Amino acid sequence: MSSPPPSPPTDPLGISEELTPLPSRKTAGDTRLDFDGQLAQPLKVHEDVRTGCGGQTWPAGLVLGKHLLRYHRDELHDTRILELGAGGGLVGLAVAQACRLGTKLLLTDQLEMLELMKHNIVLNELQDRVEALILNWGEPLPEVVVEQKPNVIIAAECVYFEPAFPLLMQTLRDLFELNQEAVVYFCFKKRRRADMHFVKMSKKAFLVEELFDEDRPVFQRQSLFLFSFRSRASERAKMQKIKS
Ligand SMILES: C[S@@+](CC[C@H](N)C(=O)[O-])C[C@H]1O[C@@H](n2cnc3c(N)ncnc32)[C@H](O)[C@@H]1O
Repeated sequence: MSSPPPSPPTDPLGISEELTPLPSRKTAGDTRLDFDGQLAQPLKVHEDVRTGCGGQTWPAGLVLGKHLLRYHRDELHDTRILELGAGGGLVGLAVAQACRLGTKLLLTDQLEMLELMKHNIVLNELQDRVEALILNWGEPLPEVVVEQKPNVIIAAECVYFEPAFPLLMQTLRDLFELNQEAVVYFCFKKRRRADMHFVKMSKKAFLVEELFDEDRPVFQRQSLFLFSFRSRASERAKMQKIKS
């Protein structure tokens, strides 16, 4: 099997057609995050961008984490959750800390992020509730994912590198094929015109809904988009049930 491509660069100068800058590169260190008071006990996140751009906190992760804790906390109980492109894992770890989950939450990313995800799991003493594993978009789903059949997928700031769009689309399709009842909570910051191609592709393939959030006026001004995706097959099945 070919080795995964490294994380795309975080250097703003390395990306053309820039509309808004990427977060500036931080030095390695620990941060505490409570998602504007949504977590009773702040999450400890070790940030280190030496192995890839996912090693630091991105704006969409903060928006998605707060949204999930504020609006979906109860319905996330007893679900089977998978995070794509988790980076240091802040969104998944926050959810795992706040909710009583049905199975271990799966934090996934490329090989370069594996150590950081594992480090942050231990830092928050969430080894019993969270597992880190490699999931390269576009490649066959790992066995543990196939067994888990996740019904909630979370993805923050995974739209920023155009060559990866078809790979991410393939993984989302594979996850819906595995479980057509799954819901994807998806948040990203538009930085380049090309980022909207991903939204267009998603709207063709899935049912895409912009989610209510009282912070929307604030984050929309920062070009942050927050969606849910569902499979078209699940909608068809629902309509058929209503008819019969
Ligand atoms: C911008 S970071 C976001 C990290 C985190 N979700 C957050 O919001 O802070 C994007 C993440 O996607 C991961 N990624 C990029 N291409 C990928 C691929 N082909 N397969 C799996 N993960 C990928 C990167 O390694 C990185 O951790």
